[in-house]
Amino acid sequence: MLPRNRWFIAAALAYALLGGLLGLIWLADPGLLPVLALRAHAHLMLVGFVGMMIFGVGLHVLPRFTGHNLFSERLADAQFWLANVGLLAMVLGWFSARQLVSAAGGAALWLAFALFALNVAATVRPWARRG
Ligand code: HEM
Ligand code: HEM
Repeated sequence: MLPRNRWFIAAALAYALLGGLLGLIWLADPGLLPVLALRAHAHLMLVGFVGMMIFGVGLHVLPRFTGHNLFSERLADAQFWLANVGLLAMVLGWFSARQLVSAAGGAALWLAFALFALNVAATVRPWARRG
């Protein structure tokens, strides 16, 4: 497995722990956290844990399932940075109530999803002839 795909999985586990910790703190005393902490929890879990796990596993297994190389490793590298910087900025923006920071993070995150979609579509290549 390529280091980048391992890093996607390591990041997923780190987000699960971080998001889970936020949930636990919320359970203990919601007053300790800012109002948008639950939105941060939801995205750390859903985009951070579930999404990054799908990215890491998907980039590893889809080329193997289809018998085609990944369309572009460089696109996947760019996707890694956009997804992680984007998610962290979005969450930090919500925590500090800075809408511009969360909007910029959200845009980077969206771009990461777009690169993944493009890379996977071009790898699976539904239009290619099958042997
Ligand atoms: C250690 C594990 C977890 C803990 C302690 C935890 C805790 C919490 C708490 C306390 C809430 C707020 C409930 C309320 O009062 O409205 C919440 C909401 C939520 N959690 Fe978790 N959770 C955990 C894992 C997860 C996972 C694995 C996911 C998804 C993959 C998830 C997704 C959500 C979502 C989407 C919400 C709703 C957020 C909102 O209403 O804005 N949680 N969680
Ligand atoms: C480009 C990526 C994303 C951006 C910019 C984004 C942004 C947002 C925003 C701004 C809200 C708040 C809506 C409101 O109540 O006013 C929200 C809510 C929510 N999003 Fe996302 N989101 C993204 C990706 C995702 C993904 C991939 C999932 C699930 C797999 C997800 C699950 C949710 C859920 C469950 C809520 C409602 C819970 C809450 O507001 O705390 N989001 N999202």
